[in-house]
Amino acid sequence: MIDVVNIQTQPVSKSRISECDFDQLVFGKTFSDHMFVASYDGKGWQDLKIVPYGDLSLSPALSALHYGQAIFEGLKAYKSQSGEALVFRPVENLKRLNKSAERLCMPTLPEEIFMSGLTQLLSIDRDWIPSKPGYSLYIRPYMFASDEYIGVKPSENYIFIIFTSPVGAYYNKPVKVRVEPHYTRAAPGGMGFAKAAGNYAASMYPATLALKDGYDQLLWTDGVEHKYFEESGTMNVMFIINDTIITPPTTDSILKGITRDSVLQLAKDWGVKVEERPVSVAEVMQAIQAGTLQEAFGVGTAATIAHISVVGYEGKDYTLPPVAERKFSNKVLKVLDEIKTGKAPDPHNWVYRV
Ligand SMILES: Cc1ncc(COP(=O)(O)O)c(C=O)c1O
Repeated sequence: MIDVVNIQTQPVSKSRISECDFDQLVFGKTFSDHMFVASYDGKGWQDLKIVPYGDLSLSPALSALHYGQAIFEGLKAYKSQSGEALVFRPVENLKRLNKSAERLCMPTLPEEIFMSGLTQLLSIDRDWIPSKPGYSLYIRPYMFASDEYIGVKPSENYIFIIFTSPVGAYYNKPVKVRVEPHYTRAAPGGMGFAKAAGNYAASMYPATLALKDGYDQLLWTDGVEHKYFEESGTMNVMFIINDTIITPPTTDSILKGITRDSVLQLAKDWGVKVEERPVSVAEVMQAIQAGTLQEAFGVGTAATIAHISVVGYEGKDYTLPPVAERKFSNKVLKVLDEIKTGKAPDPHNWVYRV
């Protein structure tokens, strides 16, 4: 049960929803009417409020803009057939937010504040949840350092916000990925496991080079030898060889994906063999060439299950088996979607209803 916390609500005078074309949603470009805001003053969280979504007034000396204490989360809400908002595993996102916060010397957020803010925000903006298949309301909680201070030290003040964005598909076709042999997203001992803004900044230059060469994403390799797969863009990555799902373990340089955890749980429920262990580039490339790689896919909240159709490696493109033949990834995509939208039983209590 969530303790009730006091949240002041200032509703919009006029909703913008009639201006939103729900049939033409571009990922991440449309924002719902309201946002939840909380402030930390060095002692505790205070001034919890729901206000119209809009610009913030910030100091040019804002600590987060200079030294990068900024973390975020991403989760989704779906509309059930009876009109409820169904949120997928929100407490897992809070736990991960708090792990990120600890790594970046930021304050953690109590569950009652996160869940009350989320619940009230979804209640007021419920109509923004798309009901079309494949669409959802993307939820973006984030926290940043708000001291007006120049100097490298943890900030005393922080702002936490949740806003939402109705979205369609992140990728609308199977993805082409390139194995990254040189650049590193995150190193051992670093903060790759945290959902820290800086990790994404570090990934943009190498990802842009891949994009210019016609790939959708990179397949990151480890920061020490570039011999083992880590993850891909905003997804964890899985391969199926010999009817076994093989996926890298979540070390300190890999984000511990909630979709990854859910997919592995379903695989175990269905008696599919799973190996969480280092996956070498050599092993996968050999399997592709021998024709024993059955499936390869990314898993993440934004992209859900993204089939990988082509792997670029050392200047050559390797085409993977046709998507229609991929039994596991097609099944898990369908079943996860049914659980998230309330159409299938939810044996692990993943869905939170608002
Ligand atoms: C770097 C990275 N890896 C993996 C994931 C997948 O995590 P999740 O399934 O929790 O969305 C994400 C997305 O949040 C990500 O940004």
